Amino acid sequence: MDSIRITGGNELRGTIPISGAKNAALPLMIAALLTEDTLTLENVPHLADVELLTRILGNHGVDYSVNGRREDQGEGYSRTVHFTARNIVDTTAPYELVSKMRASFWVIGPLLARLGQARVSLPGGCAIGTRPVDLFIDGLRALGARIEIEGGYVQADAPKGLVGNRFVFPKVSVGATHVLVMAAALARGETVLENAAREPEVVNLAECLTAMGARIEGAGTSTITVSGVPALSGAVHRVIPDRIETGTYAMAVAMTGGDVLLEGARPDLLEAALEAIGRAGAEITPVNSGIRVRRNGAGIAPVDVSTAPFPGFPTDLQAQFMALMTRAGGTARITETIFENRFMHVQELARLGARISQTGQTAVVEGVPRLKGAPVMATDLRASVSLVIAGLAAEGETVVNRVYHLDRGFERLEEKLSRCGAAIERQSG
Ligand code: UD1
Repeated sequence: MDSIRITGGNELRGTIPISGAKNAALPLMIAALLTEDTLTLENVPHLADVELLTRILGNHGVDYSVNGRREDQGEGYSRTVHFTARNIVDTTAPYELVSKMRASFWVIGPLLARLGQARVSLPGGCAIGTRPVDLFIDGLRALGARIEIEGGYVQADAPKGLVGNRFVFPKVSVGATHVLVMAAALARGETVLENAAREPEVVNLAECLTAMGARIEGAGTSTITVSGVPALSGAVHRVIPDRIETGTYAMAVAMTGGDVLLEGARPDLLEAALEAIGRAGAEITPVNSGIRVRRNGAGIAPVDVSTAPFPGFPTDLQAQFMALMTRAGGTARITETIFENRFMHVQELARLGARISQTGQTAVVEGVPRLKGAPVMATDLRASVSLVIAGLAAEGETVVNRVYHLDRGFERLEEKLSRCGAAIERQSG
């Protein structure tokens, strides 16, 4: 299994191009199931999760083709991909595939809306909590679906089609919002979704669906109204820049010091995180081509954060921010409110010399003057990258093992960082 070897201590200087957002690309790809026409997505990141979802969609009968790369691009950069679900050949999403990536469960919405039936395995994905699917089931039932759970599969059908309704999410869920918006797009009549997720990825999906002919209002607010249409058509749509990748590299620069342009990044997608990084002592400047992040000389200040649904501080940046706080000149409290088991990086950061104690959902991080390199183990996607950031600032050598998690969500991580002066390389084996 591949590992990543880092020799810490170098400042980061240069430009890091920000890729298309994984969490936007996945639901957009799934939206291709809603139409028999071609959906063209630009800026699709080249990631293991995208490859896996492409295979899963292929299983349902979705054809895809990738535009030729630009001359100046090596393999593995964001690309334009065409998806065509002319004939859906299978409405079952099997355990072998769905268990590898939770988001693939979301095919349930479009399959049910377009074909009136779906059989989808209960999901797997990162081990960051129980992550049930009750909200999806209750929401789809509200739209008239009959749903049974049998043998590890969710069996859903709506022989006469879905029917619009009002549904109040008891808890904010990004995935369940994506699925209900997609399902409602082809339902008869009007659907009103309350307490919907306001994440930029939901807005990106709604814009794509609108370009496909859907009638959606309120995406980006907590009430989304969808007036169903009989059919959707193809469209060309662009994936937004990855706000988690943006925040991750901003925190890396805040930690190592230096001066980096995050090219193509959009500050409006991560205001809460940028504000926290700024308070920690980095200088954040929105510029025409992206976001410039600098920290020269000044120490890192302790900043308390608590994760929350958008526009709050994202749970997907919690591990990285904790890495940053391990070097703060004081004590920071980091509270996780979205997932109940998302502190697996605490043990590993401790191996690098971090001082962190955990009480329930809060980690108390006592900053230390220096971290020291060590072998560490990645446990989930965001935890893995927090170890990389910590390694960049640690003295000596850090080896991050089991990096397949990183490949799920970070495009060309080693290359982007080494171009800015980091001593980082992948070792295969
Ligand atoms: C998405 C993101 C993930 C991010 C998370 C929260 C993608 C591919 N993944 O995941 O990176 O960390 O949003 O911002 O976009 N829940 C239930 N019942 C349900 C569904 C969810 O109780 O039926 C709970 C979850 O266990 C969790 C909370 O709701 O505690 C939020 O989860 P949700 O927003 O659904 O996360 P995902 O969409 O899976």
